[in-house]
Amino acid sequence: MSILNILQHPDDRLHIPAKPVAHVGEVIRQLVADMAETMYSASGIGLAATQVNVSERVIVIDISDARDDLLVLINPEIQLKEGKVLFEEGCLSVPGVYDQVERSERIMVQALNTKDELINIEATGLLSVCIQHEIDHLDGKIFVEYLSRLKQDRIIKKLRKNQRGLDQREAT
Ligand code: NI
Repeated sequence: MSILNILQHPDDRLHIPAKPVAHVGEVIRQLVADMAETMYSASGIGLAATQVNVSERVIVIDISDARDDLLVLINPEIQLKEGKVLFEEGCLSVPGVYDQVERSERIMVQALNTKDELINIEATGLLSVCIQHEIDHLDGKIFVEYLSRLKQDRIIKKLRKNQRGLDQREAT
């Protein structure tokens, strides 16, 4: 397994819609293992393949406190959405930024697992929000795009400043 580089906003590659996985085999299982390791090492609760510059519809999620309950969704499709909920979201591709986004409260999702089996999941609360956030990534959308233009501009300024700060520290 290896830790993959996570793309950071702003990066055009975060806006490329991912293609459906054609075959769930060893290549995808290796990608899933690397994505899971990358998510755990970054202390994230979800990661989409788009964020590691792989244009395939693959998501890993773990919202458990013990970090031992990995959920893998390949080619996920939301089949039903109900209700509305406001949740404060963050993203490994937008470090240090948290803001409220409105999502569906309850969803039904169909996907493939790493054994190429069809699975159906009913999700509410944090899991529901997390799945919707990650599917957005696969569609080339990041959560800050739900915020006002003004907030989005401030976020980009802040991230550029942070990135410059990191570069300087690395250079010395
Ligand atoms: Ni994210």
